[in-house]
This record gives sequence, structure tokens and C-alpha cells, in this order.
Amino acid sequence: MKFFVDTANIDDIRDLAATGLLDGVTTNPSLVAKSGRPFADVVRDICAAVPGPVSAEVTATDHAGMVKEGRILAAIAPNVVVKVPLTWDGLKACKTLRDGGIGVNVTLCFSANQALLAAKAGASFISPFVGRLDDISQDGMQLIRDIRQIYDNYPHLKTEILVASIRHATHVLESALIGADVVTVPPDVLRKLAQHPLTDKGLDAFLADWRKSGLKMPGAA
Ligand code: E4P
Repeated sequence: MKFFVDTANIDDIRDLAATGLLDGVTTNPSLVAKSGRPFADVVRDICAAVPGPVSAEVTATDHAGMVKEGRILAAIAPNVVVKVPLTWDGLKACKTLRDGGIGVNVTLCFSANQALLAAKAGASFISPFVGRLDDISQDGMQLIRDIRQIYDNYPHLKTEILVASIRHATHVLESALIGADVVTVPPDVLRKLAQHPLTDKGLDAFLADWRKSGLKMPGAA
């Protein structure tokens, strides 16, 4: 499973990229607005920091506007993937941009039927939002299971399932068990995946025993 980070904060992205764990980045208009920087600069910096796909979202809502913005965003760097909303015009823009060889992430997906339409429109990625479904007392992960099954039923559909709106480690674990292709994870949740209290406790005990022994590491003064 690929790991993307869901942020437009370049410091976080550079820090996480240094681990070698990052396969890509997703942004959205809210995240870019939070960065307080010009959109093109943000996209350019992220694309230079991470060689994998970097999703940059259009803000137009009509087909012609989305295609125009999508082409401008795609020209910023070869690893830009244009993000369009799952609306009728968004599906048409997806088809037009894909026909032009541009990667497309269809976002704001909340049903399996929407995911089926996006795949038929040739989306590179579909982004189902699990956390926002959980927020309204629906089962976000069941949507991922349903999309996985539908896409597996029709192997000619090549769209990757990119689990979005992830809120906690269990969303990541369940995505991996279901066989999602990608998770896009907020930086704090990504860092928490490495943590376990028994790891900290075990390390403290090893170091205490080592200090008490008076032994030295080879090469230590
Ligand atoms: C994905 O591409 C979206 O940017 C993101 O996952 C939305 O998450 P949220 O529901 O936490 O805002």
C-alpha cells in the first residue's frame, strides 16, 4: 500500500519525505489556504520534494473551467495529478484531462456508485472520504470494502483506491487489510503510526541496563 501525506505544509512534507516512506502528496483548497502561500509556489515546492504523484485541486466547477485550470496545474511539474470533484462536470473534466495524458484524482467520493463512475471516466485515483462518513454515523470503511470489490469484479478498471479523510491509525490498518491502493494521511497521524508504548518502555529498559553495565559501544571514547 502506498502512503501519501495529506497536507500543503512544505516543512512537514520535507521532514516526512526524508524517511523514504512518502509515495505522494494530496492537497485541497482548504489545506493550500491554510499554508498562506501562492498556490503555484506550493505545488512547485511539493513536487520538487516528493517524486511521486502530487494532487492539486481545481476550484472551477464547470467543465471548461476545470479543464483550463487542470492544464495550468499540470504544467507546473510532471508529477502533478489534477484533483476534480465528483460532480457531473468533474467526471467530464476527468475524461478530457485523461484523454490529454494528465493524471486525475476524483475527490469528494461518498458512494460506491460514484466510484464506479469515476473509474469508467478513466480516473487515475478515486478519493473516498472515510472520516467524513464516520462523522455522520455512516461506516466509512464499508465504502472502501464495496469499492474494492467492485473494482476487483472488473479488472479492466485501472483506478487506484486512495483512502482519504483519514482520522486515526485504525483507518490505515483497515485500509491495508481491505487492500486499498493508497492512504493519504495527515502528518500527525502518519507520525503516530510509528509509536507504541511498549517500544518506548522497552527502549528505556535497554538503555538503563546498558548505563548500569558500564560497557561502551565499540569505537566510543
Ligand atoms: C483528500 O484528498 C482530502 O484532502 C482530505 O483527506 C480531506 O480530509 P478531511 O475530511 O480531514 O478534511
